[in-house]
Amino acid sequence: MIKAVIFDLDGVIVSTDDLHYKAWKHMADLEKIDFDKKINHRLRGVSRRESLNIILEKATKKYSDQEKEELASIKNNYYVELLNKLSPKDILPNVNEVLRILKDKGIKIAIGSSSKNAKNILNHIKLIDMFDVIADGHDIKHSKPAPDVFLIAAKRLGVDPKDCIVVEDAVAGIEAAKRADMIAVAVSDAKKSDLADYKFDHINALLSLI
Ligand code: G6P
Ligand code: MG
Repeated sequence: MIKAVIFDLDGVIVSTDDLHYKAWKHMADLEKIDFDKKINHRLRGVSRRESLNIILEKATKKYSDQEKEELASIKNNYYVELLNKLSPKDILPNVNEVLRILKDKGIKIAIGSSSKNAKNILNHIKLIDMFDVIADGHDIKHSKPAPDVFLIAAKRLGVDPKDCIVVEDAVAGIEAAKRADMIAVAVSDAKKSDLADYKFDHINALLSLI
């Protein structure tokens, strides 16, 4: 029986993809590293540091840990500036309606995001008080495809993983949901995943599972 829905944030609740892309592109251009939207897809759901390592696959020089720290900061500072422009208008279609219906049906709702900016984003889009639980990049050592962030969210909700649905736009996130023994709903880019239990074009289709 479904008792909770755990939502990924970036690409499910709000579209920050392009902002992540612009910020990584800014850093990559400074370092003269090739970076394009195809590589950007590989960064969905993946932590900041692991994303940087993926981008540095194209670099011609080796970077020390301290240099990597600096590059990650350059990206994040730029990204945080871009986040300041986010508003409730950036909430993806049907999301507000779906959240409201789930709450009315007594289903718990949570965020399970690899991002350390999750609370900042939720504040900007004015959804911070909507969720029963927020598990984010600050809570975990291992980001998706590790199941950690979803297991932490379920634990805080007091719900058995088997009774949770995860909604994800990232292939890595679908794998994380299955490793957490949860029902995995794929939207957007995650529909490429062979592991998804359901693939939906619109998020409101998830209400058919409740
Ligand atoms: C989300 C995004 C990733 C991003 C990660 C870390 O999962 O899909 O693209 O790298 O969060 O984000 P952060 O805001 O902590 O840099
Ligand atoms: Mg995502």
